[in-house]
Amino acid sequence: MRSVTKDNITDVFRSYMADDMPPRTREIMSALVQHLHDFARETNLTHDEWRKGIAFLEACAAIETEDRHEFVLASDVLGLSSLVDMIHSSADATSSSVLGPFHVSGAPPLPVGGDMKRDFGGPILLAEGTIRDTEGNPIGGAELDIWQTAPNGLYASQDEAQDTFSFHGLMTVGEDGRYAFTTVKPVEYTVPSDGPVGDILRACGRHPWRPSHLHFIVKAPGFRTLVTEIFPDDDPYLDQDTVFGVRDDLVMTYHERDASDFPEGMALSGKVDAPFLAVEFDVVLARE
Ligand code: BEZ
Ligand code: FE
Repeated sequence: MRSVTKDNITDVFRSYMADDMPPRTREIMSALVQHLHDFARETNLTHDEWRKGIAFLEACAAIETEDRHEFVLASDVLGLSSLVDMIHSSADATSSSVLGPFHVSGAPPLPVGGDMKRDFGGPILLAEGTIRDTEGNPIGGAELDIWQTAPNGLYASQDEAQDTFSFHGLMTVGEDGRYAFTTVKPVEYTVPSDGPVGDILRACGRHPWRPSHLHFIVKAPGFRTLVTEIFPDDDPYLDQDTVFGVRDDLVMTYHERDASDFPEGMALSGKVDAPFLAVEFDVVLARE
């Protein structure tokens, strides 16, 4: 096509695509370009604004490293990561939520009843529950990969003072599907805002805070792997998570319990001498 206009350029783009390209690639590219062109037409995008967009992408690429995933962070704060999660969440299973960039693979085994708090200060949290299928049957042998920040709000990979696997644990549940562990009560924290994504947050008058949470990846043969988080119902940032990760079924009450209520059979049994917090959170996995 020689006479390309602002009104026909989207169709011209489509006409340039090869007839034998994979249908899904055609669908994705066609819709992507449609929305990009509509975005420019609708906003009457100027050259300066277009250049700022390109500069943003270049700045993301410039600071991208193995430990710093600025493009993923951009997707997170724009709500795209959460939208993709929600589009593919199973209606009758526990909701999924953002993975985030701070999970470290290969965490050491954490036995059922084990402790992740060690000598860190802060309130003890006892987290327990059952991994079930959608009919309510326990899923014996399911694997629970757990991670969170230290009380300073930093993940192990962000903090030289922590071991590689600090506040990371990999638990295999027994035949009853029950998991239980102690940790420190998670704290709210900020996502990295010293790069181009921080500029977007500031340009939109937004803060970088996430409500406190525990991260879980739950796996079992024959079931869809679930990446999720649990949040306490009294967190001040619950209604304004900067990465849009909160879902109703992921919000739980942390109950305060007397030291004398601390259960037997845990790594910390007999060592708890002050009130502690407890949360019960069952995880429902969908079949593959
Ligand atoms: C997190 O929860 O670890 C996280 C999620 C998205 C962006 C940054 C951090
Ligand atoms: Fe997190």
